[in-house]
Amino acid sequence: MWESKARPEGAATLTVNGKTVELPVIKGSVGPDVLDIRNLYRDTGMFTYDPGFTSTGSCESQITYIDGDAGILLYRGYPIDQLAEKSSFIEVCYLLLHGELPTQEELKTFDWTIRRHTMLHDQFDQFFRGFRRDAHPMAVMVGTVGALSAFYHDSTDINDPKARTVASHRMIAKMPTIAARAYKYSAGQPFISPRNELDYASNFLRMCFAVPAEDYETNHVLARAMDRIFILHADHEQNASTSTVRLAGSSGANPFACIAAGIASLWGPAHGGANEAALNMLEEIGTVDRIPEFIRRAKDKNDPFRLMGFGHRVYKNYDPRAKVMQKTCHEVLDVLGVRDEPLLKVAMELEKIALEDEYFIEKKLYPNIDFYSGITLRAMGFPTEMFTVLFALARTVGWIAQWSEMVEDPSQRIGRPRQLFTGATERDYVPLSSR
Ligand code: CMC
Repeated sequence: MWESKARPEGAATLTVNGKTVELPVIKGSVGPDVLDIRNLYRDTGMFTYDPGFTSTGSCESQITYIDGDAGILLYRGYPIDQLAEKSSFIEVCYLLLHGELPTQEELKTFDWTIRRHTMLHDQFDQFFRGFRRDAHPMAVMVGTVGALSAFYHDSTDINDPKARTVASHRMIAKMPTIAARAYKYSAGQPFISPRNELDYASNFLRMCFAVPAEDYETNHVLARAMDRIFILHADHEQNASTSTVRLAGSSGANPFACIAAGIASLWGPAHGGANEAALNMLEEIGTVDRIPEFIRRAKDKNDPFRLMGFGHRVYKNYDPRAKVMQKTCHEVLDVLGVRDEPLLKVAMELEKIALEDEYFIEKKLYPNIDFYSGITLRAMGFPTEMFTVLFALARTVGWIAQWSEMVEDPSQRIGRPRQLFTGATERDYVPLSSR
């Protein structure tokens, strides 16, 4: 059972409307303390107002820690660069779900379990055929992942810990199969079944790129790069999609439906859709000589254009994932012999210019993970529409870990924010004939 580790430590006082209230201060293990405002409305009749939740902690969590100013990202305490370098995605899944790195035996059992849940119900495959061939694969993901709840009834009881575990394993294992089918369907190619003797990333690459007429030979550098991309995207604290999963789950909705909600949230260009948008932007820029024009546009308040792949709500320093991603990008381009990829030149020059520009320095806008992931994924053969799907595949374990933590937290209540109302006050209905 999940246990709170929050430590109450003193209180702050707040005086409003002549009334002074004490707001308990709560300490975590690291990071800013929080003010407990749970009784604020009861004691003062006031709500807090925080659109975009820039100063609001929505839950207690023991999974992922980010220090955005220092550019630090830890999964269960372990730095992301160490995990990306030394671990595997399956091991990271275990770590995120269980809180500790597995022993050899635990890892073997977990890996075996995930490998044995990769297949989809035969009838599930017919779902894909209901979509238009030109449907965006994220639309297919939202629909089909939600539909998992219609197939796996035996793991939708959120109050049963065993059912929760089975649902977790099913989603981690089946997500590559669903994602690969979303791709194959749009490419007009037959679905390729999973091969359980392959590791997670190799199996996924094969399901995407093998065809019945020709088998797919795993390139270990590409499989390792894929695995690393999954590790880098596995969790990221209380971002928009994770908060969506938690909010959906707070009403008691089943885990498959909650993850589908997370996928929907991830789709937006300000979140997971940014890797697709970043690559489209690099293509639009096209050549190094056009960079100044785009930098100028990004700085123009009257132009909605933003440099995609730059800036982050939390990181006000170089995104630690972007550093690993940049290295991985170079490795992939090297092994594929496309080092001279013109988009990489544009990306590197754009990064250099932006990092020296007063506007970007002052606003602390650094490249984020999406800046280099698009180039890497495209070089690996994925169409841009698939980029966010890969992000969703990798983030599934983070969503599940966060959802499980929430379900196990005894202080969990339905998420129900309030509002600052500025609409019409009460008025009488005017009949249509009098309007
Ligand atoms: N290009 C130009 N200006 C920018 C950019 C950018 N990419 N990002 C932020 N700004 C400016 C913005 O105009 C604002 O200026 P001002 O203070 O003069 O109004 C200031 O920087 C702060 O921006 P904000 O929109 O208030 O910041 P936010 O925390 O709400 O937004 C963000 C964060 C990621 C949505 C934003 O930086 C952005 O739109 N970036 C481009 C999209 C992107 O790359 N998203 C991927 C995020 S990482 C992947 C993930 O975790 O999902």
